[in-house]
Amino acid sequence: MPPDSPMRPTGATPAAPVRIAVIGAGLIGRTHVRLAAAEPACDLVAIVDPAPEAEALARQVGASWYADVQALLAAEAIDGAIVAVPNALHLPVGRACAAAGVHMIVEKPVADTVAAGLELVEAAEAAGVRMLVGHHRRYDPAVQDARTILQSGELGRLVAVSAIWSARKPDDYWKVGWRSEPGGGPILINLIHDIDCLRYLCGEIAEVQAMASDAVRGHRVEDSAAILFRFESGALGSIVLSDAAVSPWNWEGGTNDNPGVAWSGENSYRFMGTHASLEFPNLAVWSHAPGGPDDWGRPLVVRPQGVGPRGAHAAQLRHFCAVIRGDETPRIDGRDGLATLAAAMAVHEAVATGKPAVPASVGATSPRHHG
Ligand SMILES: NC(=O)c1ccc[n+]([C@@H]2O[C@H](COP(=O)([O-])OP(=O)(O)OC[C@H]3O[C@@H](n4cnc5c(N)ncnc54)[C@H](O)[C@@H]3O)[C@@H](O)[C@H]2O)c1
Repeated sequence: MPPDSPMRPTGATPAAPVRIAVIGAGLIGRTHVRLAAAEPACDLVAIVDPAPEAEALARQVGASWYADVQALLAAEAIDGAIVAVPNALHLPVGRACAAAGVHMIVEKPVADTVAAGLELVEAAEAAGVRMLVGHHRRYDPAVQDARTILQSGELGRLVAVSAIWSARKPDDYWKVGWRSEPGGGPILINLIHDIDCLRYLCGEIAEVQAMASDAVRGHRVEDSAAILFRFESGALGSIVLSDAAVSPWNWEGGTNDNPGVAWSGENSYRFMGTHASLEFPNLAVWSHAPGGPDDWGRPLVVRPQGVGPRGAHAAQLRHFCAVIRGDETPRIDGRDGLATLAAAMAVHEAVATGKPAVPASVGATSPRHHG
């Protein structure tokens, strides 16, 4: 929604906490419940999830419990919902919220297909409902700092980016069936976060090539992939992805932003420019010593940089509350999240065809150019 669009009244005065429900209280939903229960800018009114553990969790945090979204919407007046159900349910649950005029954070990926995502985005737009997509990394302080460095021109012209997301998921992760079926898998569950980050930092992705493998786990979805990107700017990128290989090189290990993943402090992205390079997330900038040409024989100097406190999911929630109140405009709206999904689906297409694939056009503004 453009910054100056008329905002739909929400029923919440600027000073009053907004009334929130969390729909889907599984792995990530429980994080949203914990944060919403502690956040002064919102009241956690309800948890919606048919699982019996969800009812107990609702009692624990003093929220009402409903087994399905229609029961919630019939019983409660809420301003916003965090939709954290399995990917294939984002469309029906999100559509129900939109029809009731409820603003949303829809977890990533916005849906399990681009067509379903587009249907949901159009339903939200038609209802005048504000929608965020849960790419919480955009709220990480190192991402904001990296964006400032990249946009400052300090690196010169961006030539290439090299990234890795590799970790071995525990065996009980796979007890939840949808994760190893088409619509799940590490391209849509993990890589999509890296794709979103790279779109946010480097601009729109114009073309992808990719190979994938299920050789280790033998699931109906990939366990590993190697992906090449060409950005609209002409910069190139590569990502190695695996949920079957032990490694310190993944976002969570480098940022320590997820208590479930071991901390490594290792960098997982490298941005290379004509004057300097940037490591991420430690934000070290490498360049040749000043006073001479950018020549591979000149000594290299590195400028380290500290990163502020983390807490991207909490920052996302505070932003959602401000978006509901009309005080801020979405940092990642439905169409922007849909463009990230379109790029992830282009990876699937490139794997399936063995040919380069172009992400579907979904009418998003490149996130490089907005907040
Ligand atoms: N942003 C992140 O860091 C992050 C991390 C993990 C997962 N996710 C995303 O969040 C979503 C959920 O993933 P997860 O790993 O938490 O899944 P999960 O399977 O652990 O949890 C999903 C929950 O939804 C409940 N559910 C199923 N159908 C429902 C319905 N109709 N109404 C209400 N609840 C219902 C299930 O009982 C379950 O408790 C996925 O889209 C996933 O991609 C995001």
